[in-house]
Amino acid sequence: MKVSDAIRNRRSINLFDPAYKISDAQVHELIEAANLTPSAFNIQHWRFVWLRDAAVLKQAGEATWFQPQVTDASLVLLVCLDLKAWQKAPERYWANAPQDVATHMLDNILRIYDNNPLLERDEAMRSASMAAMTLMLKAQDMGLESCAMACDERRMAALVNLPRDHAICMVLALGKRFKDPYPRPGLLSVEDVLVTDSF
Ligand SMILES: Cc1cc2nc3c(=O)[nH]c(=O)nc-3n(C[C@H](O)[C@H](O)[C@H](O)COP(=O)(O)O)c2cc1C
Repeated sequence: MKVSDAIRNRRSINLFDPAYKISDAQVHELIEAANLTPSAFNIQHWRFVWLRDAAVLKQAGEATWFQPQVTDASLVLLVCLDLKAWQKAPERYWANAPQDVATHMLDNILRIYDNNPLLERDEAMRSASMAAMTLMLKAQDMGLESCAMACDERRMAALVNLPRDHAICMVLALGKRFKDPYPRPGLLSVEDVLVTDSF
């Protein structure tokens, strides 16, 4: 599929076909693609919790205000971020780079995020959000569709035993469309969103 088609065809699906079963190989392919997403200092902050067990999905449905995507989709991922990934063996993020580049990057990682929780969170959230978009576009390429969702983060965190140094980015439901979504609800124009040089 052409990238432009994947972008144009992607819609948020509210009703998924509950009969469609996704394979482990498909999930692997999706996550492998997500890992190619750009991330701040290549830290790859994203962590995906595959909500799989029926009892877990039932509670996840409650934590997403009973939206049907959670119970009907073929794959439900809780997109999380490891806020402290920059401290966790950061040399692995630059293991294949020339030594001088790796040293420079590691020095910068440790300097920039130290004592800067806002930047630490912003950069991890940016990176995880982009990984979610990769998943959505890869899903299109694989003949699947998706819906990004908000959730009650405290309930969801308790459900998945979220580590204290992690945060939640979004819930992502993926599967086969059961019903067409309504037409795009209201698109802004290029002029509405493009600012040249300054506001
Ligand atoms: C961060 C985020 C949270 C969203 N939360 C929900 C949600 O909880 N339920 C839902 O049905 N759609 C949710 N959406 C999907 C948006 O409603 C949808 O992207 C928007 O209406 C545009 O429609 P489209 O994605 O079909 O182009 C969310 C999207 C994003 C990016």
